[in-house]
Amino acid sequence: MSVAAQIGDVSFAHPGADLPSLDRVSLTVSQGESVALLGASGAGKTTLLTLLDGRLRDWRGRVSVLGMPLDPDNAPPRARRADTGFVFQEFALVERSTVLRNVLNGRLGRMPSLRAFVGSPSSLDLEAARIALVDCGIADLAERRVDSLSGGQRQRVAIARCLAQEPRLILADEPVSSLDPARAAEILALLTEAARARGATVLFSSHQPDLARRFSDRIVGMKGGRIVFDGGVADLGDAATSDLYRETVTVPGIDLRAVN
Ligand SMILES: Nc1ncnc2c1ncn2[C@@H]1O[C@H](COP(=O)(O)OP(=O)(O)OP(=O)(O)O)[C@@H](O)[C@H]1O
Ligand SMILES: [Mg+2]
Repeated sequence: MSVAAQIGDVSFAHPGADLPSLDRVSLTVSQGESVALLGASGAGKTTLLTLLDGRLRDWRGRVSVLGMPLDPDNAPPRARRADTGFVFQEFALVERSTVLRNVLNGRLGRMPSLRAFVGSPSSLDLEAARIALVDCGIADLAERRVDSLSGGQRQRVAIARCLAQEPRLILADEPVSSLDPARAAEILALLTEAARARGATVLFSSHQPDLARRFSDRIVGMKGGRIVFDGGVADLGDAATSDLYRETVTVPGIDLRAVN
């Protein structure tokens, strides 16, 4: 099976931070896998997803995404970025634009520069947007302005924008954290099924272990910037889950994570 993303011994500290946000992290994700990232607040989930999205600078180690190495000093070129889609926790939509316009924004990385500049989509772009809208169950909302939608509907728009991009790797940072339990399950089902149908790989972070178990093939648990669990859904028992959320005490100048 081909490899979608490979992280080898990566360490990273945010500028000015005492402790690393990623601490000697190694992880290999196969193409087509659905992986849930679990861990307490501050564990490093967003940092890991941002690394794979090519938006982190000054890390140490080796990273390759979809067969190409990432450069710690430079953002990937535009043509490569289109193969990785990111669903943001806070949706990151253009509030005053229509649903269709937002979904078409997912195509920008695939349009030739001039077409993207003037914002005129091709019939291929429109078709990709139409399929994404239908798959996300929001075709009837295409002409609605985003600022008139509910949180659950907005998250469908954000996922449709990502699918319209036709990425081979989908990174989603807490994609259901602001939704009620029923909506959260619906959206995760939608995201993971759409990815599976397209043969795309998904990595999503979550604070909901039960949902993570239901909608992933594999769980990666993080604590204090390290990967402390990596296994199949059936291998993550209740004890291991609560251990992920056990308090990590920090005292200035002393790294207590080693004893946690
Ligand atoms: N911009 C930043 N500047 C400095 N430190 C940061 C920055 N962003 C994150 N950090 C620190 O990096 C560590 C990892 O943060 P990260 O956001 O990756 O955690 P997370 O697992 O996504 O947490 P949450 O579940 O709350 O989203 C934390 O200690 C956090 O305080
Ligand atoms: Mg986060």
